[in-house]
Amino acid sequence: LSVSDFKPEAWTCSANEALKISLVSENAIQFPPVFTYPIYGDAEQIFGYKDLIIHLVFDSVTFKPFVNVKYSDKLRNDAEDVERKLLNFLPSNDVIIKNEAQWVDTFNEEQRSFSLPADRFKVSEYENEGTQFIVYKQSIKEDFTKKLHRRVQIFTLLFIEAASYIDETDDNWEIYWIFNKNTKQCIGFVTTYKYWNYSNAIQFDNSENIKFKAKISQFLIFPPYQHKGHGSLLYNALVDSWHQNDSILEITVEDPNESFDDLRDRNDLERLYKEKFFDLVPKQGEIAEIWIEDERRKRKLEKRQFHRLIEMILLYKDS
Ligand code: ACO
Repeated sequence: LSVSDFKPEAWTCSANEALKISLVSENAIQFPPVFTYPIYGDAEQIFGYKDLIIHLVFDSVTFKPFVNVKYSDKLRNDAEDVERKLLNFLPSNDVIIKNEAQWVDTFNEEQRSFSLPADRFKVSEYENEGTQFIVYKQSIKEDFTKKLHRRVQIFTLLFIEAASYIDETDDNWEIYWIFNKNTKQCIGFVTTYKYWNYSNAIQFDNSENIKFKAKISQFLIFPPYQHKGHGSLLYNALVDSWHQNDSILEITVEDPNESFDDLRDRNDLERLYKEKFFDLVPKQGEIAEIWIEDERRKRKLEKRQFHRLIEMILLYKDS
C-alpha cells in the first residue's frame, strides 16, 4: 500500500463512468448511462473500488440481462455492494451474473422461440433506411409485454430524468414497441397511460361513451438506434393511432425534456403543414380564443402545446 491508497478519492469513482451498458447482437455496442442517481445515489459516485467496471449487458432481441462487476481492488469493509444495488432494479430471478457462457446459452435458447406479438397488436409498419419496422401496442398485462418491459424498464432510469417504474398492476398502462421486422430487435418503446376524462355525469353513467386523455409517459429509443428518425416515426404512429380512436380526446406528455419537445414540435408542425392548417391561421391579433379551442380539440392537442404551435406558425408566416 502506498500513501495515496489512504486517500478516499483513490477509492471513489463516477458511477456514470463505471456503469457500461451494452446491447449485443453480432457485435456488442457499448454506451454510458446519462443518469445513475436512482441506483447509486444523488452524487452518482461509488466508493470502495479501484478500476471498477459494472457491465450491464442485454441481448438485443430478448433483452435477457447479464451483470458482471470487475475491479482491481476493493475495500473489504467499506465498499458499496454495487451489484446488489443494480439488481434491485432488474427483474429478480432473470439476471445472469458473472457466468457469460450461461447467459449466451440462455439467450440463444430464448431467441429460438422468440416471436413478435400477434398481428392484432400491430399499430403500424414503416420503412427506414431500407429496413422494415413494426410498431405494436400491448397492455402491460400481456405476458410478452410484461416480461420484456421488466427487462428494459431500467433504461428509463438511466436515460430519462426523474423517471420511476410504472405500476405494472395497473391495466391502464399500454406500451408501444418498435421492432425490426427481420432481426426482431427491439428499437425503442413508449409507456402510455389512459386517463378517464370526466366531462359530465350523464356521460359518466353511459359506460359505452367513456372518453380518455392519452398520456405519453416514458418515450425511449435505445441509444444505438437514436438519430435515425425512429423517434419521429414512433411518435407519429402513436398520434395517428390516437387520432383514429374516438374514445381519446386529448394527447398529453408527462414532463417532456428538451429533446422530446423538439421532436414533438417538429412532427406536430409537419403534420399541421401537410393538413394546410398554416393557411387557416389568421393574422396575429385576429385570432379568437374560441377558434383556437375548436381547432385544438379537432387535433386532440394539449392547450399549451397548441398555443406554442400557433406561435411558431405565426413567426414562420411573418418571416
Ligand atoms: N440521420 C441523421 N440525423 C437524423 C436522421 C438521420 N437519418 N433522422 C433524424 N435525424 C435527426 C433529427 O433531425 C433530430 O435532430 P435534432 O436533434 O437536431 O433536432 C434527431 O436526429 C432526433 O430525431 P429522431 O431520430 O426522430 O429521434 P430519436 O430516434 O433520436 O429519438 C429521443 C429522440 C426519443 C429523445 C431519443 O434520443 C431518446 O430516447 N433519448 C433518451 C431518452 C429521452 O430523453 N426520452 C425523452 C424523455 S421525455 C419523455 O419521455 C416524455
